[in-house]
Amino acid sequence: MRFLTAGESHGRGLVTIIEGFPKGVSLSEEDINIELSRRRQGYGRGKRMSIESEKCEIYSGLRNGKTIGSPISIVLPNVDWQKEQSPIYIPRPGHADLPGAIKYHTNDIRDIWERASARETACRVIAGAVAKKFLKELNIKIISFTRAIGPIRLELDIDIRNSDIEKLIDDSPVRCPDNKTSEDMIRIIDEAIEKGDTLGGIFELVVLNIPPGIGTYMHWDKRLDGLIAQAIMSIPSVKGVEIGSGFYSSENFGSNVLDIIKYNKNHSPWSFYRETNFAGGIEGGMTNGEPIVVRGAVKPVPTLRNPLPSIDLISKEETKAIVLRSDVCIVPSAGVIGEAMLAWVLADKIIEEFGGNTIEEIKSRFSQYLEYVRSL
Ligand SMILES: Cc1cc2nc3c(=O)[nH]c(=O)nc-3n(C[C@H](O)[C@H](O)[C@H](O)COP(=O)(O)O)c2cc1C
Repeated sequence: MRFLTAGESHGRGLVTIIEGFPKGVSLSEEDINIELSRRRQGYGRGKRMSIESEKCEIYSGLRNGKTIGSPISIVLPNVDWQKEQSPIYIPRPGHADLPGAIKYHTNDIRDIWERASARETACRVIAGAVAKKFLKELNIKIISFTRAIGPIRLELDIDIRNSDIEKLIDDSPVRCPDNKTSEDMIRIIDEAIEKGDTLGGIFELVVLNIPPGIGTYMHWDKRLDGLIAQAIMSIPSVKGVEIGSGFYSSENFGSNVLDIIKYNKNHSPWSFYRETNFAGGIEGGMTNGEPIVVRGAVKPVPTLRNPLPSIDLISKEETKAIVLRSDVCIVPSAGVIGEAMLAWVLADKIIEEFGGNTIEEIKSRFSQYLEYVRSL
């Protein structure tokens, strides 16, 4: 499978085209709009997201509410479409402005940031919503939450299998399942707003019900951990990706952080299991049957209301970076985009490994494999 996105931040709208998606999966505009509205929320987002209605239109690939195997094209109109735009000559440190302007032989950074803008991530969420519908058919689920905002970190271990956890995450304005930490996170975002500054943080993704053996150790470009890292790193602002306890493990003896293999014929869902999950569910580029755990480190938003020093591209004089309407903290939204990118990678890998043009074929091969794993 692959997906392509087109569209600028303040152009007429965004277009997503998905190729290679199997026939027979139910899909509606509402399925996608729910995910889009999850992306636009989160304490610390700017005014733009309250302007956009985030109602997509499916143009092709569906008949009677089910995919038919043809390319799926989805349009998301921009309410904030601006026909006329004045040029901007002062780049923001941390954005694509300066390298993009040099690359495309221009002084007008609007040409650059209209496409570099994270408005494009709405398309990722659209493709991810479609991928999630596929994963749902296989009972595979992805949950995300905010692990840290700036220096405020959720130190508790989260029992992601607890059925209340999703409600706790959704009820928190910063998508953090602990009330006290949520309040501290909101407080530090307020401090950034007051100072005209911005903040980053860490989101965490967890995949449940994925069997062992998805992915491969055979080739560098097919390892599941590598594919996940690329997909998560491609989200604007993400500057670090961690699988399981990657960085913590690097500081410890192997005997403390390698997940001991256990066996019990009656253990659910698989009889081979681990009591710890430092590996984040991936060994040798393949799932090992434990939940996949991925973290994305998000840098602070580059547009500051209290702007940083910069250079005017026309006069070459020192000045202050341009101030534009902007988000202050996007970590809660980045978690939703992370879910979408992870859903895409997993759906793509499963379709590649289990083959077939229709959901029925893939499901039947997948359940045969589950039966085999359960019989061990
Ligand atoms: C959901 C989301 C919203 C964002 N909103 C803004 C914003 O309002 N202003 C801004 O300067 N950067 C914003 N960013 C970050 C920039 O898109 C990003 O820093 C820029 O494209 C440069 O890419 P890089 O940070 O990956 O190097 C946002 C990122 C995401 C994921």
